[in-house]
Amino acid sequence: MTEKPRNPFLPGQPTTVDLFVGRQAQIRHLLERGVRQTALGKPTAFFLEGEYGIGKSSLANYCAAAAEEEFGLLTITASMAGQKDLRGVGEAILKAIVQAAHRHRPLWKRVTTTLGRFVKSANLFGVDLDLDEIAKEAAHFADIGSFLSTLQRLIAELPTRAEWHRGIFLVLDEINGVAAEPAFAHFLKGIIDRNALAAERVPLCLVLCGTPERRHQLIANHQPVGRIFDVIEVPPLSAAESREFFERSFQTVDMRVEPDALDQLVQFGSGQPRILHMLGDQAFWIDQDGVIDLADANSALVQAAADFTTRYVGPQILAELRSAAYRSILTKIAGIDPLQPSFQKSAIADGLEDGERKKLADFLQRMKQLNVLRQGSDKGEWVFNTPMVRTAIWLFAKAGQG
Ligand SMILES: Nc1ncnc2c1ncn2[C@@H]1O[C@H](COP(=O)(O)OP(=O)(O)O)[C@@H](O)[C@H]1O
Ligand SMILES: [Mg+2]
Repeated sequence: MTEKPRNPFLPGQPTTVDLFVGRQAQIRHLLERGVRQTALGKPTAFFLEGEYGIGKSSLANYCAAAAEEEFGLLTITASMAGQKDLRGVGEAILKAIVQAAHRHRPLWKRVTTTLGRFVKSANLFGVDLDLDEIAKEAAHFADIGSFLSTLQRLIAELPTRAEWHRGIFLVLDEINGVAAEPAFAHFLKGIIDRNALAAERVPLCLVLCGTPERRHQLIANHQPVGRIFDVIEVPPLSAAESREFFERSFQTVDMRVEPDALDQLVQFGSGQPRILHMLGDQAFWIDQDGVIDLADANSALVQAAADFTTRYVGPQILAELRSAAYRSILTKIAGIDPLQPSFQKSAIADGLEDGERKKLADFLQRMKQLNVLRQGSDKGEWVFNTPMVRTAIWLFAKAGQG
């Protein structure tokens, strides 16, 4: 058996800058209206909005690198995953600040006296945080005034750059859990307002990552939040971008993809970066000769569908989908454009026999009970609650046919 080169695919991790594709409009928007403005001294705020796995964190990271390299901003990335209250938010942000400051050698030298107490030990590869110390400070840190003054003091220690103001690019990622907490919405609005009115404003480019539902939830919790963010939608990748993704990724390890195999991978990836990586990953392991042909692509599809369904579709839903009764319905849904988050019942019912129409009605009710589908605003329209599940069903039905 031949030995495999380094696997270029990263299912489940934000992408590296060299394999990053597309997003030109979104990057330009965030860099021009956010990062650059902040580097000119103006506070800015954005919400990167999109479904799970669409590439929000990757986009934020990509822009963070540019913010640091081109504009000299200090980039801080804090994940809010698992946080339920402001104290947890404060803790996560403080950890991220210490890590970011530590990465920045000239800065760390100058802030060791203030931030050093949060670090148990440090080596070349990172820091071991003193979580007790961080927890003690967290509540204080969730206070808007202390939050802003901490950032202000941190900025004051950054090296100066001739053309740009010293400032911070702060990413609050995975806000989905904490968005339900009204205090979080008030905290965000408080930061923006207090900073706007301050005599000395903190040059802060604030970037939140979350789903559209969570943004709406923030607004429902505190209406004025709707006005503070410039929303950047993160859409599925185009077919051309997906193509570029596979070609480039395989090229980095001297592999290539035959045109019909590429068509297949692009089609089944349905522009969802997470799925593109899963497909690429499977194809990489299945292939034996350095050339991904149609047979490799088809096997990759079957494997990815199985993997995807176990990961993202609950066992109960899966059992329902496996039932023979729903096969023809799934096949029909699968036949519709997978990039559409919704479908018309009539499009599925068309051409079905009477018995099957009855099954379709049952299917829709079951999927509604299981929170997979909801009724849309148009008559006869059904919407997938999570587009990932929509894609799973699609992959599932397609793979089942093969
Ligand atoms: N523009 C892109 N180019 C290449 N791969 C991407 C891109 N955006 C995301 N990915 C990949 O897709 C997957 C999901 O991306 P991620 O940024 O974690 O999404 P999100 O934060 O929206 O859940 C990861 O495996 C990541 O490497
Ligand atoms: Mg993410």
